[in-house]
Amino acid sequence: MANVKFYSGENIPLEMHKVRIVQKLQLVPIERRLAAVTEAGNNTFLLKNSDIFLDMLTDSGVNAMSDRQLASMMEADDSYAGSATFTKLESKLQEIMGTKYFLPAHQGRACENILAEVFVTPGSIIPMNYHFTTAKSHIVRHGGIIEEILIDEGLNPVSDHPFKGNVDIDKLKALIARYGTDKIPFIRLESGTNLIGGQPFSLENMREVHKVCREAGIMIMLDASLLADNLYFIKTREEKYKNTSIREIMRTICGLADIIYFSARKLGCARGGGICTNSEALYLKIREFVPLYEGFLTYGGMSVREMEAITVGLEETMDEDMVSQGPIFIEYMVEEFKKRKIPVVTPAGGLGCHLNAMEFVEHIPQKEYRAGGLASAVYLTGGVRGMERGTLSEQRDEEGNEIYSNMELLRLALPRRVFTMSQLKYAVDRVEWLYENRKMVGGLKYVDEPKVLRFFFGRLAPVSDWQEKLVAKFRADFGDSL
Ligand code: F0G
Repeated sequence: MANVKFYSGENIPLEMHKVRIVQKLQLVPIERRLAAVTEAGNNTFLLKNSDIFLDMLTDSGVNAMSDRQLASMMEADDSYAGSATFTKLESKLQEIMGTKYFLPAHQGRACENILAEVFVTPGSIIPMNYHFTTAKSHIVRHGGIIEEILIDEGLNPVSDHPFKGNVDIDKLKALIARYGTDKIPFIRLESGTNLIGGQPFSLENMREVHKVCREAGIMIMLDASLLADNLYFIKTREEKYKNTSIREIMRTICGLADIIYFSARKLGCARGGGICTNSEALYLKIREFVPLYEGFLTYGGMSVREMEAITVGLEETMDEDMVSQGPIFIEYMVEEFKKRKIPVVTPAGGLGCHLNAMEFVEHIPQKEYRAGGLASAVYLTGGVRGMERGTLSEQRDEEGNEIYSNMELLRLALPRRVFTMSQLKYAVDRVEWLYENRKMVGGLKYVDEPKVLRFFFGRLAPVSDWQEKLVAKFRADFGDSL
């Protein structure tokens, strides 16, 4: 790939941008971090920014915007209906995705809400490579049943399979044979599969899925929120496409889907979302819900400024330097962890670096939320905020039984173009200290547990006084330092 990766002697990826606006950070002392995590009910979603040093919770809506994006926001054409800004965004999507119709929505889950309402009925079977939290909740809310048909390597944290987000074609065929096509309104394909560590699917795999679905008459719905990273991995890991441009790969993938939806908090590096399709019939089916839930058809709940920024952000995502900026820094971090024998999901995916809590803190019973305990401990240790992606992020079944997640991950997200190399080194260094002291990390228990999407605002407490002990060990090892 031209110009995407520069190495110094130490295999250091380079930022292909310069910083022109900064935000001051502070690192509060560990004693304050202990108070903060307690106030937040050991839920990193409930921490306050003023207590956080490196915010690696998510890449959603927090990617750095470019000078051109910011400039475009000043030109936004504000009107309830018929805004020129909408037409610009619609044209950009037509150009890069090759789809005729665009329905705007305020973010990715708003698209999921509408799509589930239109296509899911009680008893619907929805096959997918892997679920995403909000997609699953919307489908289940409408009585749908999710069937994950990921290749087995996808759930192996240390597999070296380059495309762990691939669909297992035999599982797909078996599922169609078992349920028949009438019960399956669509298959959902998630690019850059979030919950298994931002792992991509290959273009070859998508072609095979397409072939099977075409024969069976099943629609393909693509969640393109993390497509940018997936494009990069196809280009760099799939031999056949190494000379194909990112733009062409984008067009080909979108051409294989019937419906594409995306969170523009990720794809396009701004805030918003939408649904694209080439089918007039599908467009008309979906359309009536946009004014009902989101806003008029020419803004769908987004501000016109954000729509301008998405338009520019999407164009910039077609730039091969830009699209590499997430994955090459994530890969750097993953390699640093690997060198230190710290359990981490490999190969490096998109979105962030994923510590494998199942192994990192294997002494914690899974019912005490391994990845949740680790998230608390990493915050305490370095002021680094990650996100639990394990059992805590699941929902109990109807009888109230805990559903144990296949993987227990702590995600350290790297919003694109936000952190510097020394900040990454610091995060690795603090996690290394914690790994040496991992036996001190304990589990958590819910003290306030919401029924739906409990991880967003549920509150937990440590099962023992392990956090006070960890703070004391930190002070013994680090002296006065923060
Ligand atoms: N699909 C995927 C694959 C996502 O990663 C997300 C959001 C959504 C849909 C929903 O989009 O946030 O705009 O409503 N992921 C965020 C994350 C929240 O932190 O991983 P949204």
